[in-house]
Amino acid sequence: MRKEPQEPSDSIPCMSLATTCPTVRRLAIMTGGGDCPGLNAVIRAVAKDALNCGLEIYGIEDGYLGLIENRIRRLEEKDISGILARGGTILGSNNKSNPSEFPVGKNPDGSIRFADVTPKCLSHLDALRIQAMVVIGGDGTMTSAARFAKEGVSVVGVPKTIDNDIVGTEITFGFETAVATATDAMDKVRTTADSHHRVMVVEVMGRNAGWIALHSGVAAAADVILLPEIEFDLDKVAQVVRQRSARGKRSTLICASEGARPAGGKQIVAKVDPTSPDPIRLGGVGKFIADALEKSTGVESRYVVLGHTQRGGTPVASDRVLSTLLGNHAMMLLREGKVGRMVAVQRGTLTDIDLAEPAGRQRLVSPEAPLIQAARAVGTSMGD
Ligand code: F6P
Repeated sequence: MRKEPQEPSDSIPCMSLATTCPTVRRLAIMTGGGDCPGLNAVIRAVAKDALNCGLEIYGIEDGYLGLIENRIRRLEEKDISGILARGGTILGSNNKSNPSEFPVGKNPDGSIRFADVTPKCLSHLDALRIQAMVVIGGDGTMTSAARFAKEGVSVVGVPKTIDNDIVGTEITFGFETAVATATDAMDKVRTTADSHHRVMVVEVMGRNAGWIALHSGVAAAADVILLPEIEFDLDKVAQVVRQRSARGKRSTLICASEGARPAGGKQIVAKVDPTSPDPIRLGGVGKFIADALEKSTGVESRYVVLGHTQRGGTPVASDRVLSTLLGNHAMMLLREGKVGRMVAVQRGTLTDIDLAEPAGRQRLVSPEAPLIQAARAVGTSMGD
């Protein structure tokens, strides 16, 4: 392939924040909420750009917890080199620390006492003369970021979650990696299911949104896909199993979202964490379905909970690309002084929305989505 002649590096215009935003000389970056593949790729995109333009960049450790506890460290080239493909986050994260409602002790009745520690966070930023923050996180992290924007910090948000459920953006990085992991797991599980003539239920993450289940279920040709958005009928799922056995099919593969629930029933809660702003942890529907199907059909049934394997490891190429684009767009917004905004993708185009827009809401799968129609058209049951 012919190489385009390279420009000497010193002639590349450095769109320094100082050019258009003279007040920003020091910038902090933070990852909040549950981790997700592609976080380091965003950190790299933002930090390399900042360093290349002569800005000072600081990493806040463990999400808002590090801001509350004043754990903020200067980032240098060596810290952000070689991290593009690394899973997790080099800064650490935390999903239990909302500065507006932070647990600070116990009330006399034993309940947890919460306080607004935002002023403490602001004083830590002031002490380092940090004027701007790039905050990478989910809806909870964005809600807190909006508060800092109100207090005068130049904040830009970058949405992340494997669940792909943030309102205002049609894709979040980490999702494609989670889908690839779940698809690969189902491909593997299918071979064992075939060998033993079994029903295999694979429980995937996603909270109240069925994006991971729908995409990985279609990609793995699951025979049944159960989403939180479409209540399932256990009798109908059992009928699929019986019909498949009668047709000589060796197995039935069921992809169940952790948030799926039977008609008229409730989601299965694995754990309640009162210290977390989002205290419900879903889990257990895979076992519930496998046990019920074995009982009603007589076909041996097993379940697998993929859990955090979907959040870990190396991001797929498309997530690395998306992370890089979103990180770069966040820097562009800061340059333009467009703060209090979250970068987003709408109709395939990079854009931005108000930081507060995703607060307390989730982007769910529409039961009329084209992919659901496509799944039904190839004979996949949605359990209804
Ligand atoms: O939001 C991402 C996610 O992985 C969900 O899919 C899942 O329900 C939840 O986080 C698990 O949270 P935790 O890591 O706190 O158990």
